[in-house]
Amino acid sequence: MSDLVRSTPRGPWDLAGKTVAVAGGGSVAPGWSIGRAACVTYARLGATVLVLDRDLSSAQETARFITEEGGEAYAYEADMAREQDIVDTFRSLAMRHAPLDVLHHNVGIGKTGGPMETSAEDLDRIHSVNVKSLMLSCQAVLPSMVERRTGVIISIASVAGLRYLGYPHLAYCTTKAAVIQMTRMIAQQYAPYGIRANTVIPGLIDTPRVTANVAHMFADNLDEAKAERARQVPMQRMGTAWEVANACAFLASDSASYITGTELLVDGGLVGKFV
Ligand SMILES: NC(=O)c1ccc[n+]([C@@H]2O[C@H](COP(=O)([O-])OP(=O)(O)OC[C@H]3O[C@@H](n4cnc5c(N)ncnc54)[C@H](O)[C@@H]3O)[C@@H](O)[C@H]2O)c1
Repeated sequence: MSDLVRSTPRGPWDLAGKTVAVAGGGSVAPGWSIGRAACVTYARLGATVLVLDRDLSSAQETARFITEEGGEAYAYEADMAREQDIVDTFRSLAMRHAPLDVLHHNVGIGKTGGPMETSAEDLDRIHSVNVKSLMLSCQAVLPSMVERRTGVIISIASVAGLRYLGYPHLAYCTTKAAVIQMTRMIAQQYAPYGIRANTVIPGLIDTPRVTANVAHMFADNLDEAKAERARQVPMQRMGTAWEVANACAFLASDSASYITGTELLVDGGLVGKFV
């Protein structure tokens, strides 16, 4: 076998033998959230998947999808808003599943409103889940990644971290912007240790959370609300959780071995649009 052939992964995004932890791998409502679709995609590519969520039953449901397909997955309850929970969870993962190859930080919460509608407590709570937990999770996984001179960090931001989406969503937008920059900073500092860190930036994705919480902002009728959201996108449709998951899988794999400190937009062209 030539060196050229040997250096090409078996599948384009092969994850066989890798262990991936997804923080926020459940779903706030039944169906395919981004974290759940990512967990299943990682498993289909051969990874062992550790599903973390504050909602244990939701994490277990994700793990069940995987094991029913013959994959390997374990569910853990972890509240990423609580520092001690993060420390304890990653310590126990290190004992049971070490080494961890990929950290996928998926948790994200928000509250609509601008500065007058957002309390200091709201901002602190949203910052804790969206930003502080990313740093604390990285603190937990980086030492062993440094020791092994390999590792991947994938964070999930949002187009809301880059653009005003037509309604005030101050705490969400600013914390998602912070996710992007925090990931870039980590990527720069840890690149010499063989660790890659990138952000996936989803656009308007049709997940159960959107049906439950976001769609009503566009219209009273859910179908009309979703159609209005779709019309905003140059591709004229919302994305699926699977389309975001595919981008994550690529970044997690060795096919992305020279990609770090950057962002991958999965937005149907939304951010490039003028109006
Ligand atoms: N759906 C979209 O249109 C969209 C667009 C851009 C970005 N995103 C981002 O993608 C990610 C997933 O979004 P989704 O739409 O699939 O929503 P989701 O709310 O279903 O997924 C988030 C998961 O994180 C979990 N979670 C929330 N707070 C937690 C905490 N403190 N500790 C542990 N787990 C916690 C939830 O239980 C849920 O399972 C989020 O970061 C979101 O901001 C979504």
